[in-house]
Amino acid sequence: MSGTLYGLGVGPGDPGLLTLKAHAILRAVPVIAYIRAKRKTGEGESLARAIAAPHLPGGQVEIPFDIPMSSDPRVGQAVFDERMPRVAAHLEAGRDVAVLCEGDPLFHGSFISFMDRLSGDFPVTVVAGISSINAAAARVGLALATRNQAFGAIPATLDESRLESLLAGGDGAAIIKLGRHLAKVRAVIDRLGLTARAFYVERVTQEGEVGRALGDLAADFAAPYFSMILIAPETPDAGRRYE
Ligand SMILES: C[S@@+](CC[C@H](N)C(=O)[O-])C[C@H]1O[C@@H](n2cnc3c(N)ncnc32)[C@H](O)[C@@H]1O
Repeated sequence: MSGTLYGLGVGPGDPGLLTLKAHAILRAVPVIAYIRAKRKTGEGESLARAIAAPHLPGGQVEIPFDIPMSSDPRVGQAVFDERMPRVAAHLEAGRDVAVLCEGDPLFHGSFISFMDRLSGDFPVTVVAGISSINAAAARVGLALATRNQAFGAIPATLDESRLESLLAGGDGAAIIKLGRHLAKVRAVIDRLGLTARAFYVERVTQEGEVGRALGDLAADFAAPYFSMILIAPETPDAGRRYE
């Protein structure tokens, strides 16, 4: 019988935000796989592995996927092509493989590539994780949506006009993948008059966490990749929270 491919959500950073279910599977599987950001200067880091590290029993086979930092998706695909047969070989031999996923596996997660490639041949089980958006809202104390309000998760990589049309409705939003797109996103938020409702969050639940009203950031503030902006839905007192 073949092994099961697990997509294990490990949460946004704090190892205490990993679910009991993910914990049990993490300790039982013989093989773990994870994405590692490849640096020019050698081995990079895997945030998902670092989050899971305190829970790892030791002695597991590890399959890192070293993905170079690049906006060209073909670069990552080549690494998937090269490494995926190793994962498949373990599954074929009946060994379960857990892919460690930062936040939730199915929300902008690289696990989607594992699932796309392997779910036709092997059983797949996804264990939901606490997404960075939920963790950020909890840390800020911001209600993402209530009653008839909508909520949108918007990649900062979109162009200005698309961002503007998505944010113009006045409902709540999380703008993810912020990094070098901060200035562009800020300009749109300012133009729409949403700055008083916008909150910047960086490395939520991790060492070095930052949380500030967007309006308090310096004009040349440099945001890292692991940051987002939360926009409170239009409610009478939404702006007061951040004064
Ligand atoms: C590829 S998405 C992965 C989302 C992840 N699967 C989740 O459920 O949170 C990466 C983006 O999520 C956001 N993100 C992930 N972890 C974060 C954290 N700890 N603090 C702030 N933002 C985070 C950032 O906007 C980052 O650019």
